[in-house]
Amino acid sequence: MDPSQVKIPPMKDLTVDNITENVIRMNSLCEDERMKYVLERLILHLHDFARETRLSSKEWMTGLQFLTEVGKICSDVRQEFILLSDILGLSILVDSIDHPKPPNSTEGTVLGPFHTHEAQEMSPGDPISHDPKGQPLLVVCTLKDTQGRPIENAKIDIWETDSTGHYDVQYADREGPDGRCVMRSDKDGVFWFKAITPVPYPIPHDGPVGKLLKVLRRHPFRPSHMHFMFQKEGFDHLITALYLRNDPYETSDAVFGVKDSLVVDQGKAGPEYAEKYNVSEDHALLTYDFVLVSDAETSALRERNSKVALDNLGRKVKIVNGLPVPDLD
Ligand code: BEZ
Ligand code: FE
Repeated sequence: MDPSQVKIPPMKDLTVDNITENVIRMNSLCEDERMKYVLERLILHLHDFARETRLSSKEWMTGLQFLTEVGKICSDVRQEFILLSDILGLSILVDSIDHPKPPNSTEGTVLGPFHTHEAQEMSPGDPISHDPKGQPLLVVCTLKDTQGRPIENAKIDIWETDSTGHYDVQYADREGPDGRCVMRSDKDGVFWFKAITPVPYPIPHDGPVGKLLKVLRRHPFRPSHMHFMFQKEGFDHLITALYLRNDPYETSDAVFGVKDSLVVDQGKAGPEYAEKYNVSEDHALLTYDFVLVSDAETSALRERNSKVALDNLGRKVKIVNGLPVPDLD
């Protein structure tokens, strides 16, 4: 960069009141407009946070040491920063902003660190879990669009823990994937498989995030759930989960993933399902009708929501293509 081309006004006598404006100006040559905007707002809020809380140097150093610990424990198989974002409610917030859902569609939830890309593609009715201690569960689902039309041949990733609340990847001596699969919806949008009844389990809490939860007097548990991820061209990617009603952690999920529309009752197969799916009448059953939102519906909703959100913040702008533009409507 040629210093003679730098048109930033000289900074002098930095004060508590003008430091924010100066930092934003220093960043103003950034050619990536979206990054420049995000950084501007981040600095503004960070500086306001320090001014508002009257943050002490000692407290900020404690915060930096904590973030250092979070970084140190990260590895290929452990992502403590995502965990931190999860327990602060930021992961679910960002997902809800970026993947807005109209009322007649399936809501998203946190991805978590246990999705893998090694699950086998399975056929309808296959068992995805081989844990002999798990309670067998028949899962029968449909996949449709917001107009009620079946979605065929979507790629569906499904994953759950074993009966002790551990994912396969948490066992150092595991032989291969278990408790997970990839399925395809059929021409009627149906997909079904045999699983085990999900159980509650704690998120990894032997690191700095676990220590933080303790200080905050929070438990590390997630309520019983099964994860689903849907991919189909033309539709917004959906990462979601189904949660069992009346779980002891239903209203205090450590990562804020539970939404009412995703809480389900586990029932019994009864005569109709028993005959159709070749199980006993008292076999446990979970059914759910998933609804995907098209890319076009999602973009329109994103724009509409951005207008309302910024209006609520008293800002007369809306975000279009990632950048603020005056909201003249
Ligand atoms: C999970 O549900 O797999 C999960 C989500 C967030 C943090 C840890 C685990
Ligand atoms: Fe999980």
